[in-house]
Amino acid sequence: MYVRGGHATTQLSQVGALAVGVPGALAAYEDLSRRFGKKPFADLLTAAADIADNGFEIDAKFAQRLREEHLRIMQFPETARVLLKPDGSTYAAAEHLRLPDLARSYRAIAADGTGWFYRGPFAQAAGKWMRENGGILSEGDLASYRVRTREPIRSRYRGYEIIGFPPPSSGGVHVAQILNMLSAFDVNKLNENNPADRVHVIAEAMKLAFADRAYWLGDPDFVKVPRGLLDASYGAERAKEIRLDRATKVDHGTPPRTDTDSFPGSANKHTTHIAAADKAGNWVAITTSLNTALGSKVIVPTTGILLNNTMDDFSIEPGTANYFKLVGSEANAIAPGKRPLSSMSPTIVLKDGKPIMTVGAAGGPTIITQVVLALSNVIDLGDHLPTALARPRFHHQWSPDQLRIENMFPADVLHELEKRGHSLEIVEPVGATNAVMQQADGTLVGVSEPRLGRP
Ligand code: DON
Repeated sequence: MYVRGGHATTQLSQVGALAVGVPGALAAYEDLSRRFGKKPFADLLTAAADIADNGFEIDAKFAQRLREEHLRIMQFPETARVLLKPDGSTYAAAEHLRLPDLARSYRAIAADGTGWFYRGPFAQAAGKWMRENGGILSEGDLASYRVRTREPIRSRYRGYEIIGFPPPSSGGVHVAQILNMLSAFDVNKLNENNPADRVHVIAEAMKLAFADRAYWLGDPDFVKVPRGLLDASYGAERAKEIRLDRATKVDHGTPPRTDTDSFPGSANKHTTHIAAADKAGNWVAITTSLNTALGSKVIVPTTGILLNNTMDDFSIEPGTANYFKLVGSEANAIAPGKRPLSSMSPTIVLKDGKPIMTVGAAGGPTIITQVVLALSNVIDLGDHLPTALARPRFHHQWSPDQLRIENMFPADVLHELEKRGHSLEIVEPVGATNAVMQQADGTLVGVSEPRLGRP
């Protein structure tokens, strides 16, 4: 699909018609709203339509994204018309953006149901645009989209139960797998002994998990994703490869029962994580994504609806890195009707069978490691939620063999990690984690990513 002149071209899986996967979020929201919501779905859409109609003030981050994507936005006249000023320049922070076309689409869905999107006027407009612009996504693809309800992953970490998201996201599997490996260590003691020890051990566990991700993970409707990845015994075995004195070179492992026990099939950046809880005991963890900033950059004419570029979440060719520098294998190769691998990790934590925390993040593969760090900070270090989310972050995804680490770490920790053989990429603060936690007195505390400068 993306090989041109013998080479896989990531430009095609990231921008324009071929980058777009079938959107699932709208169908999922409708399903959730019908099964668990209190308000009619139409009311929720009307509230969003009002915001789109009246316009909203854009923040510094959104303005920056528009600047970064300016040239690519200009490749698509409809996207330029909707998202740029009439003179073709980008909106600046604190300026007002109105999205009247999007408002109309929301109102049409509110009135006619999601059939307007999947089988009606939107599907027709999208199919037409695709045919005229070299795409292969069709009206039929939209019509045949179905929401799947899957069994969540349940694992344990130091007496807590971790409820995670199953394949085709890799998130739940690897959050659980990394925590299983960390069970072999006293993370709090490591931290007290030498903060570099804690970073080193967690980074090594991240690396081992991402080596498995690259090899084993894909849509369970199409490939066998071994459940043994989640076994505590496999975690303990892999944890033995972690040495305290140096960073090791690792390859993927072979979890137990690879042939016999797999997940059931039934046959920079644009991700949002919603964490919510209420006094009635409802707990929500939703991650939704267009993939990278402004997705494919394609707005379907007259609808205001921006299409994703989640095709880049597939491995477009073995060994070819995607936008997030992730590599994958056959397990995550493209096939008709297949869903791409993801790192999304909406997570709910139970204590004695009752929810006490909901957490998730945005940021491609760093979603997994952000969630692991939030959980480890709360469970291992005993942090309150604001401290847990503010604590400096780091990320290792096996390939590239680099430890990405926030510049908030003290120089001696960085130096110590380099001495152990890590190749450091020192970065500005990264990530976007949102969480809600129940405190000892029963009250709920919600924290939205402190690095984004909002309360
Ligand atoms: O599902 C995934 O793993 C990616 N589509 C997520 C992309 C993302 O988080 C971009 N973020 N800020």
